[in-house]
Amino acid sequence: MKYKNIGMSDIKSSVVGLGTWAIGGWMWGGSDEKDAIRAIHAGIDEGINLIDTAPAYGFGKSEELVGKAIADRRDKVVLATKCGLIWHEQKGDFFFTSTEENLDEHGGINVYKCLSPEVIRYEVEQSLRRLKTDYIDIYQTHWQDFTTPIDETMQTLMELKKEGKIKAIGCSNATIEQMESYRRSGTLDADQELYSMLDRNHEQDNLPYVKEHGISFLAYSPLGQGLLTGKIGPDRVFEEGDQRRDNDRFSLSNRRKILTMLDSFRPIADAHGISLGQLVIAWIIAQPGCSHALVGARNPEQAVENAKAGSVILSVENLKNMQSVIDKFYD
Ligand SMILES: NC(=O)c1ccc[n+]([C@@H]2O[C@H](COP(=O)([O-])OP(=O)(O)OC[C@H]3O[C@@H](n4cnc5c(N)ncnc54)[C@H](OP(=O)(O)O)[C@@H]3O)[C@@H](O)[C@H]2O)c1
Repeated sequence: MKYKNIGMSDIKSSVVGLGTWAIGGWMWGGSDEKDAIRAIHAGIDEGINLIDTAPAYGFGKSEELVGKAIADRRDKVVLATKCGLIWHEQKGDFFFTSTEENLDEHGGINVYKCLSPEVIRYEVEQSLRRLKTDYIDIYQTHWQDFTTPIDETMQTLMELKKEGKIKAIGCSNATIEQMESYRRSGTLDADQELYSMLDRNHEQDNLPYVKEHGISFLAYSPLGQGLLTGKIGPDRVFEEGDQRRDNDRFSLSNRRKILTMLDSFRPIADAHGISLGQLVIAWIIAQPGCSHALVGARNPEQAVENAKAGSVILSVENLKNMQSVIDKFYD
């Protein structure tokens, strides 16, 4: 496993991180608590130290599971969580209503984007409690809120850093202009964005920007939510409540198209003795500006397989060959 510093901080994080959204169950058709905890332990044993979660993942469930899993190994973990998606009060920008069953007795939860100082102060305490820790390594603003000036948000985050409750500050789903505002009021060490072979928009904006300013780039959904593992064939059926069930990206025709693209990578994967999913992860962390990949895993087998991609080194020729296939596919 390779490790890289988070921004200008002295926090060294594995280039492959473990994403724990699916582990929270919400929007992923549920999750198995035992598998989730075993996945976290297996990932850590395989060299992963970066674990990413958020209060919104399962409305606290993902953070609680992570807290439980790392309670006896906190010192081995770079813990990343987030703030700014709230459901305890109706404040800020309305984002969406979660209608998934069993979340509350009213049948739905209204989620708002809010990054006001009071909300952040409330949220950080909730996260520390659920995570059973007294500090968070990377604290990220989950989605940007247009009702709170960024300098107020950043001042609060800088105060939390001074108080030792958080060690580094990151943003997510942010534009270059928003990152500029964060940087005017403090130190921004990480940017977490959607990035994969299927979602390449940030190659034109955030990736060159973070590279220039020494900010870490944490790619989320790097496996296209599983589609890029090569293991999602026509027979795979997604559970009720799994967002992939009605997503066009997972249509039978698109599954076939992606399997064809992945098939052309097989000789490179075979030459390295790795799976297609591992090759896809190795490609991501070799892209200019992309320092870390946050890869979701639901069980120990997936966590171990994904972690091993953190030590794969692709040659310039491998990357060039892959790039020409991806460019054709992306058009
Ligand atoms: N900041 C944000 O707004 C934001 C948004 C999205 C995600 N994230 C973060 O990024 C993390 C990763 O993104 P993601 O979970 O959306 O997608 P992802 O990492 O692209 O895909 C994860 C899914 O792929 C499948 N998978 C993973 N490893 C596999 C393997 N070795 N073999 C076969 N299947 C495998 C699993 O689903 P199945 O087994 O069910 O197929 C897993 O849940 C999240 O957990 C979260 O921490 C952040």
